[in-house]
Amino acid sequence: MKSTELLITIFLFAGIWASHAAAEPSGPGNFTSDQFSKSGICSNCHGSSFGEWSGSMHSNADSDFFYQAMLQEYGRAAEAQGLPPEFCSRCHTPIGMVSAEIPPLDGSHLSEVSKEGVQCDFCHSVAESEGIGNAPYVLEPGDVKWGNRADAVSPSHGIEAHEFYNESGYCGMCHNINHPVNNLTLAATYTEWEESPYAEEGVTCQACHMTPGIVGFEENPGKAASTGPKREHVYTHYFVGANAFVTDVMGEGRHEKRAIEYLQHAAELKVTAPDSAEPGDNVEVEVGVTNTGAGHKIPTGVTEDREMWLELTVEDSEGRELYHSGALDSEGKIDSGATVYHTIFADSEGKPTAKAWEAESILSDNRISPKESVVEKYSFIMPENASNPISTKAVLHYRSAAQEHIDELFGKGAYNVPVIDMAAYPEEKKSSTPGFGIIGAGIALFLGSTLRRLKR
Ligand code: HEC
Ligand code: HEC
Ligand code: HEC
Ligand code: HEC
Ligand code: HEC
Repeated sequence: MKSTELLITIFLFAGIWASHAAAEPSGPGNFTSDQFSKSGICSNCHGSSFGEWSGSMHSNADSDFFYQAMLQEYGRAAEAQGLPPEFCSRCHTPIGMVSAEIPPLDGSHLSEVSKEGVQCDFCHSVAESEGIGNAPYVLEPGDVKWGNRADAVSPSHGIEAHEFYNESGYCGMCHNINHPVNNLTLAATYTEWEESPYAEEGVTCQACHMTPGIVGFEENPGKAASTGPKREHVYTHYFVGANAFVTDVMGEGRHEKRAIEYLQHAAELKVTAPDSAEPGDNVEVEVGVTNTGAGHKIPTGVTEDREMWLELTVEDSEGRELYHSGALDSEGKIDSGATVYHTIFADSEGKPTAKAWEAESILSDNRISPKESVVEKYSFIMPENASNPISTKAVLHYRSAAQEHIDELFGKGAYNVPVIDMAAYPEEKKSSTPGFGIIGAGIALFLGSTLRRLKR
């Protein structure tokens, strides 16, 4: 009995060890870059996928000037503090990393295929993953391309089907980032999704980011390959999120436009405010923000850089400003009293830092979870000379980085970070005109409030 148990234990242990050893993540020098095909080769038969991917932040993951500026800063810190020099490249130029073309971090040894960032043959050579975060992919480049379609046949390459390509965990390889030394969570889009109702409902990253539906799966009939059969659905490769800054500067207009559309499908505002007040009254305004469309927190990703904030303006009947929060000053800085949703990292001395590699703890994180609402409260004293009725306007803004940070990196005047309006109250005019019922209700409300004022 005892010896059988021992044998089983040995077998189990050996099994675990063997499977573990077989799934070591690919690392520096495991491959050469000529083992991977340039994306232009795939475009011969996969023209649509290529056209969609081309210009995406995946295709620009290495050439992105914002990333490059931060990478060079990381390079100097890595040298001084003994941090792994290839860390950023695992996700931003995975072929450059596994072919040991990086370091040097100036990219002078990178081949053309490595400069394509997160590209076709890299993504379709992932045979397995060791888990979530910090890019634990196991690559098997060569004739076989991995995908999710069991019945696909190609004249030019082998195909292996792997359910994993249809799961969020595939994206989770790179969309969760931990500090390379102290393991602090730096970005956790996958975890935010995993803990959300979307995970329970089976709405994956692919459903929102690889189909025409922004807030869920939508069919895209067509062909996956020009020489292949017609399919009821073909996954798209735009991989659009929220980047309307770098896409704009790099001339990727299609992806910039789509990013704005994504941002405008993510949130809703609800405002509770009085329409009149007496001089000296304490006027209270509540703004509710709901994450209605994103399968993760808003904002998500590198949220030490991203900024989402509320601008609230209250005016009297003559257009005089009674209250204003969330305005930008002449330098493009958000006023210090505003509600800003983002993450603030602290360095070893507890001071705020925007450099993820200096982060040792999280000072604050007030982002909004999927399908959750938060309510912000504002108040002011009604001035003597103000005239009723008063009107309230709220806007939820987003930008990819603080103007200050971009000025610091590239010099003042180099780039103007665009501000995108995600949602507004009252809602901006829609193209369709409201029916009589709504206009009627509006008049009734207006009359109602006039009557209330007359009664005082
Ligand atoms: C000569 C034409 C041709 C070229 C070149 C080509 N493919 Fe394909 N590929 C096909 C055809 C045909 C299919 C099958 C499509 C179908 O059944 O709908 C296919 C299927 C695939 C699939 C499977 C899709 C799935 O869901 O399982 C993947 C992944 C793929 N190709 C990746 C690539 C990559 C990456 C490259 C470039 C390195 C490439 N292909 C180059 C013709 C080609
Ligand atoms: C090899 C790592 C890697 C994998 C795997 C990966 N990504 Fe990314 N992804 C990146 C990097 C790096 C960026 C940021 C590039 C940049 O901005 O410089 C990015 C950016 C994005 C963006 C943001 C674009 C924008 O407009 O803001 C979206 C959306 C996205 N990825 C979706 C996905 C989805 C969906 C999957 C899974 C099917 C996936 N990614 C798999 C590395 C990866
Ligand atoms: C970030 C990784 C990533 C990149 C980059 C990428 N793909 Fe894909 N691709 C995927 C995933 C994941 C799927 C499967 C989606 C699913 O089934 O949910 C897929 C699906 C496909 C399919 C099958 C589509 C279908 O529905 O039948 C083809 C063909 C394909 N990719 C080709 C390409 C080509 C060509 C490129 C480069 C232009 C490319 N891919 C770039 C991850 C990627
Ligand atoms: C229900 C739809 C939905 C699902 C599911 C979803 N996303 Fe998103 N995603 C969005 C929308 C809408 C936006 C734009 C608003 C925002 O920035 O969050 C977005 C934005 C993004 C961004 C850009 C964030 C930024 O500010 O730079 C990334 C990266 C991203 N998604 C990756 C993912 C990954 C990875 C998954 C799966 C773990 C995923 N998304 C699941 C809808 C979705
Ligand atoms: C585990 C994968 C991973 C690693 C490692 C990684 N990144 Fe990223 N990086 C991403 C993803 C995914 C995004 C996109 C998230 C989003 O849209 O907010 C991103 C976005 C960025 C952006 C924003 C780019 C833009 O266009 O707005 C910068 C800058 C950046 N990374 C710098 C770095 C630096 C510097 C390092 C190394 C210290 C690094 N990254 C390491 C995955 C990674």
